[in-house]
Amino acid sequence: MTATTRQILVTSALPYANGAIHLGHLVEYIQTDIWVRFQKMRGHECYYVCADDTHGTPIMLRAEQEGITPEALVARVHGEHSRDFAGFHIAFDNYYTTHSEETRFYAEDIYRKLKAAGLIDIRDIEQYYDPVKAMFLPDRFIKGECPQCGAADQYGDSCEACGAAYAPTELKNPLSAVSGATPVLKTSEHYFFRLSDPRCQAFLRRYTQDGRLQAEAANKMQEWLGAEGENKLSDWDISRDAPYFGFEIPGDDGQATGKFFYVWLDAPIGYMGSFKHLCTQRGMDFEHWWKQDSTTELYHFIGKDILYFHALFWPAELKFAGYRTPTSIFTHGFLTVDGQKMSKSRGTFITAESYLQQGLNPEWLRYYYAAKLNGSLEDIDLNLADFVARVNADLVGKYVNIASRCAGFIVKHFDGRLNACDPHALREFAYEREQASIAAAFEARDYARALREIMRLADVANAYVAEQQPWVLAKQIDTAAQRERLHVVCSTALQQFRDLTIYLKPVLPRLAGQVEAFLNIDPLCWDDLAHPLPAGHCINAYQHLLQRIDPQQIDALVAANRASLAPAAAEKTAQPTKSAKITPARDSTMDATNATNAAADSASAAVIGIDDFTRIDLRIARIANAEQVDGAAKLLKLTLELGAMEPPRTVFAGIKSAYNPATLIGRLTVMVANLAPRKMKFGLSEGMVLAASDESGQTAGLFLLSPDSGAVPGMRVK
Ligand code: MSP
Ligand code: ZN
Repeated sequence: MTATTRQILVTSALPYANGAIHLGHLVEYIQTDIWVRFQKMRGHECYYVCADDTHGTPIMLRAEQEGITPEALVARVHGEHSRDFAGFHIAFDNYYTTHSEETRFYAEDIYRKLKAAGLIDIRDIEQYYDPVKAMFLPDRFIKGECPQCGAADQYGDSCEACGAAYAPTELKNPLSAVSGATPVLKTSEHYFFRLSDPRCQAFLRRYTQDGRLQAEAANKMQEWLGAEGENKLSDWDISRDAPYFGFEIPGDDGQATGKFFYVWLDAPIGYMGSFKHLCTQRGMDFEHWWKQDSTTELYHFIGKDILYFHALFWPAELKFAGYRTPTSIFTHGFLTVDGQKMSKSRGTFITAESYLQQGLNPEWLRYYYAAKLNGSLEDIDLNLADFVARVNADLVGKYVNIASRCAGFIVKHFDGRLNACDPHALREFAYEREQASIAAAFEARDYARALREIMRLADVANAYVAEQQPWVLAKQIDTAAQRERLHVVCSTALQQFRDLTIYLKPVLPRLAGQVEAFLNIDPLCWDDLAHPLPAGHCINAYQHLLQRIDPQQIDALVAANRASLAPAAAEKTAQPTKSAKITPARDSTMDATNATNAAADSASAAVIGIDDFTRIDLRIARIANAEQVDGAAKLLKLTLELGAMEPPRTVFAGIKSAYNPATLIGRLTVMVANLAPRKMKFGLSEGMVLAASDESGQTAGLFLLSPDSGAVPGMRVK
């Protein structure tokens, strides 16, 4: 290799510690991992660090809801995330947590330096406060009617119906999504990072427009910064009031301030924290990498949704605290599945865990994502049919096929020893080596182009094998010359196969490891392209390298993600009263459980233990929407909300005879929240609401249960 050794520090965004890793996340971690592996194979000194993003209100509330401490939640999720990433061969040099002493240290350090630079302001702001929960409410935890279009049930920052953006105080009839209480306005002191300061504006204008960002990202920045002289950036609120899970902001002389760093202040500092931890482990010099004039390179891979934080706030924080700034920020688009947003009800919100549990090979997905990633901000689509076709055609049909057709002859006829190669057949490979265009494509994160070129070389190799027909040659090895020909052809094809493996190794590290074992060689690096396997080198017997994808595996994966919405529940035990029975308000014509329910009904309530009863997760639910279902005689389609931490549920309830849907909207009721979702003619039903009726369900009518006032969505009924 001629290039001098570079020192490169790479990060992926830190995933939130309150959710599972899904195929959307994996776009980013796979994209980054391929790039890091490529740099390492090129002989550069490259480190890849990441961490869980552990602070903030949602994580605090999630832990509370689970009845555990935030620390316990964070520790558990760290285990789950580490397992999922390892499963997809994401090779971090360090996977840490923002809830660490290192991150606290740099958060306080950066804050103090910004303060000393005159860039921190303290002022009062008025904000919505939940009087029941005694906490200030983040915008996303306030719901109400859109001030623009009147749509019900919109978040405090923007309307999903009309797209309007607004302040939470503009919502009509606001409610706390945490407790259901009406929020009140309350004043509190907040700390601000003064991005409106002319120094920040001038720096960011330079920083974002000097060619370091992707063109599309630079344009976005230009839009956000406004024209020269137009001060569009406002100060950034970096503090939050207790209760908050995070780091307390240090007071001047060690006093408590009672204020906490907003999660987005310390999250990117988690990159430093994770790297510092790595430096401690490996005896490396942190300063060398992070000092203002560092000669090392720093790259952040992120999704386009968090560009604002990474290209404006973060470089400004670093710059004015006296640290180096990122060399570049590599932004990617969002994953769609079959052209649509990932969806739980369609089963396309696929977790990393379920993919692996279903026995799918993680390298199939690595290959497919690589084939789609081109270094731009465009969204990338996982088309499930194309996924199967592409992986099977390219990896099994083209790449692995070369080895499987030639290796056997080498072992059988030549004791596993290779011969010299056919130079003529290797000329395309030599040409690529000289042009190094595959390497340039990897460097530019245009993996799609890299794979196109690699597959073109695989076509060249396959054409050579097809033309030489070693299986025909093997039948005519009576003369030494014929034997020699078979030996050369198979050796040449395996040489081509080895070169393809080098090119594919950043994408398929495990498969490359298997090939190294089969070819009986040291771990491959880019430099090996210049060193063909020598004549006389002895390979091992070929073992099958890669399975084809069976489309049924994909169907099973989608079904598993659709079904995993709620754990199976004991439906038969939902009969807790004697007199006016509470019956599940499902359409009795719709599904098979109906028979079971009826049987349980007529047997009346057999005696059950408290354990049976507590298996049923009964919750207060808010009917956010109710509507007629075309073609259904008895059903209404309800959208039920269980508080801010849970996605809304769709339930088809057999209550059409008793209720006009418009009168139900906004009402509270009781639902069975852990009933296994059931596919009905009209869609997926994800639970049931409870209603009282007489035996026949006809004469006296149907009566939906309502809680006493004070109950809020999500509360358990026990
Ligand atoms: N915690 C913040 C990042 C802090 S970095 C200092 C966060 N976490 S996240 O879990 O929501 O997302 C982590 C990364 O995954 C982000 O870069 C995000 O853009 C990316 N993706 C999350 N969902 C995605 C898709 N559906 N598609 C592609 N990338 C996605 O944001
Ligand atoms: Zn609206």
